[in-house]
Amino acid sequence: MNPRPLIAASILSADFTRLADEIHLAQQAGVDWLHIDVMDGHFVPNLTMGPMVVEACRRATELPLHVHLMVNEPERTLEAFARAGADSLTVHVEACPHLHQTLRTIHALGLQAGVALNPGTPAVLIQEVLPLADIVLVMTVNPGFGGQELIESTLPKIGQIARLRDHAPPSQALIAVDGGVNASTARRVVSAGGQVLIAGNAIFRHPQGVAAGVTALKEALGEAAHNKEGTAAASAPPLEGSQDRG
Ligand code: DX5
Ligand code: ZN
Repeated sequence: MNPRPLIAASILSADFTRLADEIHLAQQAGVDWLHIDVMDGHFVPNLTMGPMVVEACRRATELPLHVHLMVNEPERTLEAFARAGADSLTVHVEACPHLHQTLRTIHALGLQAGVALNPGTPAVLIQEVLPLADIVLVMTVNPGFGGQELIESTLPKIGQIARLRDHAPPSQALIAVDGGVNASTARRVVSAGGQVLIAGNAIFRHPQGVAAGVTALKEALGEAAHNKEGTAAASAPPLEGSQDRG
């Protein structure tokens, strides 16, 4: 598995009047992925962005684009997000009656496939699809908005998923954690088994700026701050393509 946790910058908290600049600042500070929150006003109360924004991000950066679909019937939009340049698509188990098929469709589009769970959803609901999942996203807040406080009672589920995964070979799913991840909570998230830290407010709303936000997260993880030219990029796993499984 990965030698160090990866950091995914969630643009939900970025300043959209200068999105490309915000993305470049995060990239220069050494984040590993860009996390893009798609919300439909039905699955979650908020409405955010669609394939057009993913396409704009694609033109702004070569960072892997991790698209988090908080939408009902995500099957209807997978192809559009693939065309827009996403590297991975993560769907919610609560929104997918045919989850196995949905993950296969994502792979057939040539992308990595992720499955997300809300705080109220038990780990066991994704057990059967673990061999198909490249990413399992554990929500540590109720989805819909940035800047919420991490729900501590969700942390044990990260370890439960890690154990299920390790008993479901050949699953090598990365466990991503989303919601309330900041310099105060990052270490606990990693101790619980988190491998990808998704952070919005902690990066884009840091009072000293984006670079300081990324540095604070890395320091919280006990890692010397380094930029993109450092070792960070070298150890990030590839996110392009996918294996045809299941
Ligand atoms: C919330 C989104 C998150 C959000 C996290 O529904 O899925 O990705 O951006 O924001 P923070 O890091 O501010 O909790
Ligand atoms: Zn998200």
